[in-house]
Amino acid sequence: MDTLFWRLKDENLLPRKYFEVDFPMIVARKIHNIKSKPPLSKPIMESHSGDSLLIDSHSLDSTRYSIVGADLRFSSDLEEKLKKHNLDIQLPTLLVAECVLVYMTPQQSADLLKWAASTFPVAMFINYEQVNMTDRFGQIMIENLQRRQCNLAGVEVCRSLDSQRERLLLNGWEAAHAIDMMKVYSFLPQADVKRIEALEFLDEKELFEQLMQHYCICWASKDSSNLGLANITF
Ligand SMILES: C[S@@+](CC[C@H](N)C(=O)[O-])C[C@H]1O[C@@H](n2cnc3c(N)ncnc32)[C@H](O)[C@@H]1O
Repeated sequence: MDTLFWRLKDENLLPRKYFEVDFPMIVARKIHNIKSKPPLSKPIMESHSGDSLLIDSHSLDSTRYSIVGADLRFSSDLEEKLKKHNLDIQLPTLLVAECVLVYMTPQQSADLLKWAASTFPVAMFINYEQVNMTDRFGQIMIENLQRRQCNLAGVEVCRSLDSQRERLLLNGWEAAHAIDMMKVYSFLPQADVKRIEALEFLDEKELFEQLMQHYCICWASKDSSNLGLANITF
């Protein structure tokens, strides 16, 4: 489960408020972990001010961290839940999706992107997920996931970097970019590459490179305040 909130807190980089969304069942598991593990609950309490925090089995709301159980395919329910947790849509907002859109039909992910673009006046959307899925390697990835009951309903949009970019542009976002993870890897400082490769012995370099060519990062922005979001790039 994602630990970004805790890493940002450690580095003193917390945004005004950090929200997480996943299905209620997954959120319940995460809340259970937070409640039972002080290294997870302490940073939330430390950054909380005011009354006691709101917590039930499917949501938790504190001053700087909130987690909501919701289905991203139903944006009005999602918006209602986020607003109950004091989401301020007027603040510049960074939305991050990690291998999530691929589980929705193209229509459902388009609706989510449209909702986000029309809700947040100043925002950036970052999407990390599969790309180049029509080649042989991509087909094998799909078959492997299907064998584990993972149906990639939105894989059609993961055809190419262009199809990923196009989805953002067609649904209210501007200045869209997409690069594959091999490219991202090539941008890393050599010291980091050496450290990573020492941690994880890469005996199948070719396989690793193929895998990295099948994941990408895409980003786009909306910038009614002219903060210069379109200039943020790798
Ligand atoms: C690859 S995982 C990433 C999880 C997250 N980054 C983390 O580490 O906790 C994709 C997540 O998307 C969630 N997901 C998929 N479809 C969803 C939907 N329609 N609504 C809410 N969450 C969804 C899954 O439950 C899963 O936890």
